[in-house]
Amino acid sequence: MSENVPTLSGDTSLRLREFDAPPADPLGLLREWLDGALRREVREPFAAVLATVDGAGRPSTRVLLAKDLDERGLVFTSSRGSRKGQELAARPSAAMTFYWRETLQQITLSGAIEELTAAESDALFARRPPAAQAATAVSRQSRPLDDEAELRERARALTESGRPVPRPAEWTGYRLVPRTVEFWYGSPDRLHRRLVYERPAPDTQNWTHRRLQP
Ligand SMILES: Cc1cc2nc3c(=O)[nH]c(=O)nc-3n(C[C@H](O)[C@H](O)[C@H](O)COP(=O)(O)O)c2cc1C
Repeated sequence: MSENVPTLSGDTSLRLREFDAPPADPLGLLREWLDGALRREVREPFAAVLATVDGAGRPSTRVLLAKDLDERGLVFTSSRGSRKGQELAARPSAAMTFYWRETLQQITLSGAIEELTAAESDALFARRPPAAQAATAVSRQSRPLDDEAELRERARALTESGRPVPRPAEWTGYRLVPRTVEFWYGSPDRLHRRLVYERPAPDTQNWTHRRLQP
């Protein structure tokens, strides 16, 4: 691949004091970074790569959207029947990476995965636009597709019926409860800044932090 394609071309002027004076709580800092990405008009700031492993230890990744950040962790939604859903059922831990090209920022989290309650998942499903609800209802994510036209037709008919679409049984919210959180700010001289937080168990607030070499 070409050496001439520019990389690390984002904004190098961010004044990120957290690298010199880290706050105690990384989830608060994560919220500040997400708010900052919105303010700076980063494209798709909530898109993140989610990594899971299957029972044999084989990893797999895909992009999805973070839907919420609460005091326990990061919430996303997906299907229990999908590849990731089956892997999370077998091994409920995962890693997640956000990368914002415009601002040269990367955030990496890893930790335990828990399912949201049915009521919480219902509330998240209700937030989806009607066409997205219909698409979710007709698709059995990650299973083989025999007839695309038929799938599209069922989604169209359901959307146009105007009937309320109940949350499909497989569709659920998940929460990544982090045990590690790393904040990274890139630098064209490759002396990137890294700040990593770690805690011994998901339910303590005993976070420790340290800077890492780039
Ligand atoms: C920007 C973007 C956002 C996505 N958001 C979601 C999402 O919120 N939930 C989801 O299940 N898949 C989402 N996808 C699709 C996933 O990348 C993936 O194709 C799907 O979840 C099936 O993955 P699996 O077979 O590994 O389980 C998104 C893809 C992109 C590129």
